Amino acid sequence: PHVLILGAPGAGKGTQSARIADAFDVEHVTTGDALRANKDMDISDMDTEYDTPREYMEAGDLVPDAVVNAIVEEALSTADGYVLDGYPRNLEQAKELEDMTELDVILHLDVSRDELVDRLTGRRVCDDCGTNYHVEFDQPEVEGVCDDCGGDLVQRDDDTEEAVQNRLDVFDDNTQPVIDHYSDRDDFVAVDGERAPDAVWDDVEAAIESNA
Ligand code: AP5
Ligand code: ZN
Repeated sequence: PHVLILGAPGAGKGTQSARIADAFDVEHVTTGDALRANKDMDISDMDTEYDTPREYMEAGDLVPDAVVNAIVEEALSTADGYVLDGYPRNLEQAKELEDMTELDVILHLDVSRDELVDRLTGRRVCDDCGTNYHVEFDQPEVEGVCDDCGGDLVQRDDDTEEAVQNRLDVFDDNTQPVIDHYSDRDDFVAVDGERAPDAVWDDVEAAIESNA
């Protein structure tokens, strides 16, 4: 299946996408991870304000469209099935995506702003394998240590209170219109994301099964 997962920062897109990739044997295409792996690539020839993605990401601003469009186009060209996470984040990106591929199901994880702030500021990520934890909701067995690989758990640069508030404002201004744009399609499914991951998953799995 070709799955698009939409939602605000912290809505659980990464968490649910990992399960989707596993259960439906599709590729997890995520612009956030791709950009974090290439934070210092030189984008100055793309006529951008900053020379690398890093400056945009640490502030919680969007990386310029040209950079992100190229990443997604490349990733989708080699993926058979996929779950696309983190893109499109504005209407211009949505238009690009329409020329790249056809979607089978569009999921929207809906979560309130207060909950998003708690999830993001409390998130900790394994420095080695990237697994997500949370200081309250998803603690590792040993504080600060990854259950899977023993790596150190760290806070993402953009999970500080200030960057989180900016990310949520950027979402309201740029990405909410994308959700509104897709919301009258027959294959659009809104999921209440403000529940435990297993409960969210039940709805996510059912939505994909009935649309793909
Ligand atoms: P990106 O990496 O895409 O970050 P994001 O959208 O801000 O999303 P997150 O990864 O923070 O949240 P998530 O929804 O995946 O939630 P998660 O499952 O981790 O983008 C980062 C930056 O890259 C952007 O700011 C921008 O600069 C740039 N960028 C990326 N894409 C771009 C694009 N298309 N255009 C331009 N720039 C782009 O969960 C969050 C936390 O909550 C975790 O701690 C988790 O354990 C916990 N949690 C998850 N589910 C639940 C639940 N059901 N109950 C309780 N806790 C939960
Ligand atoms: Zn780890």
